[in-house]
Amino acid sequence: MSTEAKDPTGLDRILTLELVRVTESAAVAAARLRGQGDEKAADQVAVDAMRAELNRLPIDGRVVIGEGERDEAPMLFIGEEVGTKQGPKVDIALDPLEGTTICAKNEPNSLAVIAIAEGGSLLYAPDVYMDKIAIGPGYPDGLIDLDKSATENLEALAKAKGCKVNELTACIMDRPRHAKLIEEVRGTGVAIRLIGDGDVAGIIHTTNPIDTGIDIYIGIGGAPEGVLAAAALRCIGGQMQGRLILDTPEKVARAKKMGIDDPNRKYDMTDMASGDVMFAATGVTDGNMLQGVRFTPKEIQTHTIVMRSSSKTVREIKARHQDIDKFG
Ligand code: FBP
Repeated sequence: MSTEAKDPTGLDRILTLELVRVTESAAVAAARLRGQGDEKAADQVAVDAMRAELNRLPIDGRVVIGEGERDEAPMLFIGEEVGTKQGPKVDIALDPLEGTTICAKNEPNSLAVIAIAEGGSLLYAPDVYMDKIAIGPGYPDGLIDLDKSATENLEALAKAKGCKVNELTACIMDRPRHAKLIEEVRGTGVAIRLIGDGDVAGIIHTTNPIDTGIDIYIGIGGAPEGVLAAAALRCIGGQMQGRLILDTPEKVARAKKMGIDDPNRKYDMTDMASGDVMFAATGVTDGNMLQGVRFTPKEIQTHTIVMRSSSKTVREIKARHQDIDKFG
């Protein structure tokens, strides 16, 4: 789908903007339940809204990685076919409500997120955990490596950035599984931004350290969120690696059925999201990158970022929806 020659109708360009409707719709649905303490209900309405909008798109789409299996949440299931079937074959990675707990508590950085790419371009994998490392653009290729220690990665980053190690900030999810990592990183003097949830935003924040204060993301989160973040970085720039955590024979077997023969494979950004990738995210709650949904008596306001890897165009769309009923 990447060139005019392959796509004389410019359908993929149109789709980039159509994606905005998909994430807007999921974000508005979830935002109505913001701060209500009910993660599942918020997730369910976001899933329903996203599915309804996806089914209006002129695509022959297949969900290749989606969130929900791991925590038995409502989901658009992996393998689900969406769209009108009157258009290109596309792979879809999605999370209708990234940060269900954040939304339930009305805390920052909960998003409705989607990435699409030509069929076969996004990592087809089960909803398991993924070990991840990511930095923003402007650094030499291959600067970070999952097989190196956190200390080695932080030292390399500081050198490339031209600062002291203790002037860096690393974003890490606040989880018991990260106790050793946190201890090691604190030992280097690096400041840690501990986040409760939402590592798609955590990774994207590395692309704008001046505004977010975050230089690097390290740690284990969901695999779908990893693929979504990789798709975003393909569009904005940056570097990322991920490795699926297939720690039981069942997970290895499930992955194998999906075509993953090497359970220890290290994926770089383009292994997770290749070709012409489109990414969109709409804020559900307020965050560093996106404003959350605003409801007023006469309109609903949404804030979305939408981007495409082939052109590297990053658009921010602040929409004012006066036809409130269209959101149901
Ligand atoms: P949800 O959308 O399921 O709430 O995921 C939020 C999240 O924090 C992700 O950003 C992250 O990748 C994953 O959960 C980490 O999983 P866990 O909460 O099991 O550590």
